[in-house]
Amino acid sequence: MNYEKIKEDVKSILSEYRFNHSEMVAKKAEELAIEYGENPEIAKLIGIAHDIAKEMTDEEYLKYVEDNNIKIDEVEKINTKLLHGKVGADICKKKYNFNEQMQNAIKYHTTGNINMDNMAKIIYLADKIEDTREYDGVEEAREKAKISLNEGMIYLLSRGIKKSLDKEKLIHSDSVELYNKLIMERE
Ligand SMILES: [Fe+2]
Ligand SMILES: [Fe+2]
Repeated sequence: MNYEKIKEDVKSILSEYRFNHSEMVAKKAEELAIEYGENPEIAKLIGIAHDIAKEMTDEEYLKYVEDNNIKIDEVEKINTKLLHGKVGADICKKKYNFNEQMQNAIKYHTTGNINMDNMAKIIYLADKIEDTREYDGVEEAREKAKISLNEGMIYLLSRGIKKSLDKEKLIHSDSVELYNKLIMERE
């Protein structure tokens, strides 16, 4: 399936707000892919589809993972929203024939993961720094993403983990593992 077809399909599934975000992620992912020597067409496809499962209900997530034999952990059972990564990846594989690399980028865009490649990092960053995003620190995140993909990732993981600590919320271990890996690679 080509970009226009996937875009129309995503548009029919998501709210206007989230569809607009998805288009912005596709645009930012394309820019980052060009900057970091990855395939911009592939980045756009992943970007437009990355939140395809974001608007499902808790019940729908749990039914989907059960019906499709997707393994989930204790944290995901509680924070079901995290599942829009794994579920979205599975939907894109079955509906749009996304390959392993594309599926992984969608799978990992929620928590991060030590197995992320550059394309997955591009999607993770594009999701959080696309042009319409507004939050404390977004400008700094954009600057860090210009230094390197890893610096952008470290900044956003650190910010996310700090936020969860402040609110005494669960932190997914994949985020912590990735954070540690990137800090070690930095030395
Ligand atoms: Fe998402
Ligand atoms: Fe998103």
